[in-house]
Amino acid sequence: MKLGWLEAGTLAAASVASAADLAYSPPFYPSPWSTGAGDWAEAHKRAVEFVSNLTLAEKVNLTTGAGWEQERCVGETGGIPRLGMWGMCMQDSPLGIRDSDYNSGFAAGVNVAATWDKRLAYQRGLAMGEEHRDKGVDVQLGPVAGPLGRSPDGGRVWEGFSPDPVLTGAMMAHTIKGIQDAGVIACAKHFIGNEQEHFRQAGEAQGYGDNITESLSSNIDDRTMHELYLWPFVDAVRAGVGSVMCSYNQINNSYGCSNSYTLNKLLKSELGFQGFVMSDWGAHHSGVGDALAGLDMSMPGDVILGSPYSFWGTNLTISALNGTIPEWRIDDMAVRIMAAYYKVGRDRVRVPPNFSSWTRDEYGFEHFMVSENMIKLNERVNVQRDHASGIRKLGADSTVLLKNKGALPLTHNERFIGILGEDAGSNPAGANGCADRGCDDGTLAMGWGSGTANFPYLITPEQAIQNEVLNYGNGQTNVFAVTNNSNTEQIAAIASQSSVALVFVNADSGEGFINVDGNEGDRKNLTLWKNGEHLIKTAAQNCNNTIVVMHTPNAVLVGDWYDNENITGILWAGLPGQESGRSIADVLYGRVNPGAKTPFTWGKTREAYGAPLLTKPNNGQGAPQQNFSEGVFIDYRNFDKNNEEPIFEFGFGLSYTKFEFSDIEVTALNADKYTETTGKTKHAPVLGKIGEASDYLFPKGIKRIRQYLYPYINSTNLREASGDPYYGEKAEDYIPAGATNGSPQPLLPASGPSGGNPGLFEDLYQVTVTVTNTGSVPGDEVPQLYVSLGGEDEPVKVLRAFDRITIAPGQKAQWTTTLTRRDISSWDVPSQNWVVRDTKKKAYVGNSSRHLPLSIELPAAK
Ligand SMILES: *[C@@H]1O[C@H](CO)[C@@H](O)[C@H](O)[C@H]1NC(C)=O
Ligand SMILES: *[C@@H]1O[C@H](CO)[C@@H](O)[C@H](O)[C@H]1NC(C)=O
Ligand SMILES: *[C@@H]1O[C@H](CO)[C@@H](O)[C@H](O)[C@H]1NC(C)=O
Ligand SMILES: *[C@@H]1O[C@H](CO)[C@@H](O)[C@H](O)[C@H]1NC(C)=O
Ligand SMILES: *[C@@H]1O[C@H](CO)[C@@H](O)[C@H](O)[C@H]1NC(C)=O
Ligand SMILES: *[C@@H]1O[C@H](CO)[C@@H](O)[C@H](O)[C@H]1NC(C)=O
Ligand SMILES: *[C@@H]1O[C@H](CO)[C@@H](O)[C@H](O)[C@H]1NC(C)=O
Ligand SMILES: *[C@@H]1O[C@H](CO)[C@@H](O)[C@H](O)[C@H]1NC(C)=O
Ligand SMILES: *[C@@H]1O[C@H](CO)[C@@H](O)[C@H](O)[C@H]1NC(C)=O
Ligand SMILES: *[C@@H]1O[C@H](CO)[C@@H](O)[C@H](O)[C@H]1NC(C)=O
Ligand SMILES: *[C@@H]1O[C@H](CO)[C@@H](O)[C@H](O)[C@H]1NC(C)=O
Repeated sequence: MKLGWLEAGTLAAASVASAADLAYSPPFYPSPWSTGAGDWAEAHKRAVEFVSNLTLAEKVNLTTGAGWEQERCVGETGGIPRLGMWGMCMQDSPLGIRDSDYNSGFAAGVNVAATWDKRLAYQRGLAMGEEHRDKGVDVQLGPVAGPLGRSPDGGRVWEGFSPDPVLTGAMMAHTIKGIQDAGVIACAKHFIGNEQEHFRQAGEAQGYGDNITESLSSNIDDRTMHELYLWPFVDAVRAGVGSVMCSYNQINNSYGCSNSYTLNKLLKSELGFQGFVMSDWGAHHSGVGDALAGLDMSMPGDVILGSPYSFWGTNLTISALNGTIPEWRIDDMAVRIMAAYYKVGRDRVRVPPNFSSWTRDEYGFEHFMVSENMIKLNERVNVQRDHASGIRKLGADSTVLLKNKGALPLTHNERFIGILGEDAGSNPAGANGCADRGCDDGTLAMGWGSGTANFPYLITPEQAIQNEVLNYGNGQTNVFAVTNNSNTEQIAAIASQSSVALVFVNADSGEGFINVDGNEGDRKNLTLWKNGEHLIKTAAQNCNNTIVVMHTPNAVLVGDWYDNENITGILWAGLPGQESGRSIADVLYGRVNPGAKTPFTWGKTREAYGAPLLTKPNNGQGAPQQNFSEGVFIDYRNFDKNNEEPIFEFGFGLSYTKFEFSDIEVTALNADKYTETTGKTKHAPVLGKIGEASDYLFPKGIKRIRQYLYPYINSTNLREASGDPYYGEKAEDYIPAGATNGSPQPLLPASGPSGGNPGLFEDLYQVTVTVTNTGSVPGDEVPQLYVSLGGEDEPVKVLRAFDRITIAPGQKAQWTTTLTRRDISSWDVPSQNWVVRDTKKKAYVGNSSRHLPLSIELPAAK
């Protein structure tokens, strides 16, 4: 394997590579056309019927947003009025409806991962899907597997799940099933290598004073791509996800939405993805080029947000007319979009959007961007149902108990409770007081950026604990809250009187377009915010029963205080959403026995993680080069490799009871032999005729909305109609070899209809263990199965299976799981296929990545 740039990655960051040395993304054309493979047959058939009836302009309408803030949703395509179809509505976010009202604020993805509970992931997905559906949303823009979590300080890691691809993959799949069972299309994002905020968009970076002209390039080798970053997207495709969002960053110096290798080869050919690819907002960089590279929908449509022009819309119609994009490619875009629409049953449950992302006023401009047409915009439909109880449960079930010296659970007989820290209280500006949650004031229950929702309310820890004492207490407890972190004197005074001091601290991160306290999305350090460490130390100096609760997007450094003898309990509550206070009270008071496990490693230092963020441009004004030179060794795999002791290891979490593991058994199952996929696709289907330029002139007699992106042309002179001075000569609009070829194409050896070669998903082994609750209260345990693949360059172990199970005290439970061929395979670059290497493989089972009391050798695979 030639990895010139990987070696280059170890050179000084300042050295500027010459263009020839830069990582390169090989072309892969033509863009695979959808076939209805897997369980898409019915939806695909209906989509083909529908699209066969459309004119070119109607198809183009489906593919292109109407423009930023032109319609109510954060992105909305044109409609097909002739067939009574209004535009498709895309709405953030992965944790609830963004920019809306009377909706729920769910827990972040990182909390879902911490539950290790697939059913809860599904239920949350279903609940979010119901809310989106009832507000008229066609596509919920989530869930997230990119960032995966290469670096703990990556700004958006909390939107996703866990740096472990198997844990993330399972949570992706169950979230997607939930959303889509509610009748809403899910969107797996951001594809791919979108692991940090710095330099994700050149314009944004310039705003922060870094004069670069191109977005960061995530340089990822093929093995790391398959074994790590692509893995959870495979699970998303297997779960039937309707759409995938391509990312802002480049991969090997080719933009996420222009990269034929990632879109055409990996996603659509190898994984057999049948849905559609939409661009991230402003990640669309070329008209013809991106269409041929596999993009199917331009969001929000404009060249740059707010511009009256589009790479598609008018330009896509022109590209079809001037023959640079074949009819079949445009048909395929429309078929993919409509197939996703039918697959989730949009035709049965669709209502028009009845809220506006741009104002909370009841009345406002329908076309907000251009202040046209005052109408009733916000119907204020309440879509919350009883989702609050699920949010409360998920909040408690995702709270990880990291330390407990017998202090927890609390009883209602406390003499004096001190509640200490700003993170216990309210934001003085209200829970939604900062746009896109772009501040860290009061208790933290979401990060910031587009991955947020408005809260309907936010129950703070202070409120919930006060309520607990007042409503359920013995009437003798005193309770005081000090929520000003700088009032050290009063913090010390209350702590010294407390029989228990509950200290609330946080750290925050978010999306790059907002800078909070010098954190440009990514965290600039791994320490607690707002002097949290000082707060903890002050409390612990004065109270020998100090319990710390942390609200953070990922790991923080706790080395200076976690083993202080006066700190009798430590809990990580993540970003729990609207029921935050009630969730933590449920755990503190033992109504919920904690069963969560940390979905990431808590290291002693930032350096212990490796995989540093790139925060200084290292390629002059060109694309900063981020070499993923650590390969597959992120998070616990890196700690294992370097024999580095974490403070709290991946998969760790305590309970109010105790569990024991025994009796491991493995059975080899009767699986078929792995066969590589061979043969060819069919010819690309052509579903219509392009017609004459004059068919697409702007229709007379329709009111033209200013700056609105239509599929029509102004003139039959196409150069003039494009308004593009470089018409016919732009480098990115050249036609790569083979890109317009609609003839049968060879199938890739590792390819298959739903996520890859079906042989990968066959069960090879069954593993059974016994888990016993040896304590005195009921509790949940998460048996975790890790595999050592045995190869020299393999991680010490990788997570492959887990479940969360409830066991009564004194009871035994048998946990049975299976391992698929994929679970024991390695990606072989030369053959471009998965192989089971001839090495000794072992399975380990236990309740954290470093507590694996059971192990067993796996029999050789067929
Ligand atoms: C990036 O380059 C590496 C090294 O040549 C290669 O293994 C990998 O497949 C490339 N990935 C993409 C998406 O081009
Ligand atoms: C779709 O096309 C078929 C066959 O050309 C035609 O009979 C039908 O009326 C069309 N339906 C619509 C809604 O245009
Ligand atoms: C495209 O969508 C816009 C907005 O919904 C609509 O006004 C226009 O009529 C549509 N064009 C066609 C050809 O359906
Ligand atoms: C708003 O949503 C309700 C309930 O989901 C739906 O019945 C209604 O048609 C929508 N209102 C508008 C104006 O679209
Ligand atoms: C950024 O670089 C360009 C090209 O060299 C230059 O024209 C421009 O002045 C620079 N801008 C800043 C703010 O330094
Ligand atoms: C067509 O695309 C080019 C960029 O490739 C852009 O400059 C031009 O404004 C677009 N035309 C229209 C009508 O949107
Ligand atoms: C880390 O960042 C936070 C948030 O900006 C800040 O409050 C804190 O002081 C920083 N820590 C260090 C050690 O600089
Ligand atoms: C622990 O708390 C007690 C007060 O209860 C205090 O006297 C002592 O110094 C504290 N110990 C530490 C290590 O801070
Ligand atoms: C903690 O301090 C209290 C006095 O505030 C004392 O009664 C108790 O024994 C101490 N507990 C421990 C474990 O030192
Ligand atoms: C097309 O015509 C409209 C209306 O006159 C104008 O606003 C728009 O700029 C024209 N587009 C191009 C690319 O010339
Ligand atoms: C065809 O049209 C597209 C869209 O306007 C334009 O970008 C491209 O340069 C044109 N190509 C040729 C060969 O005319």
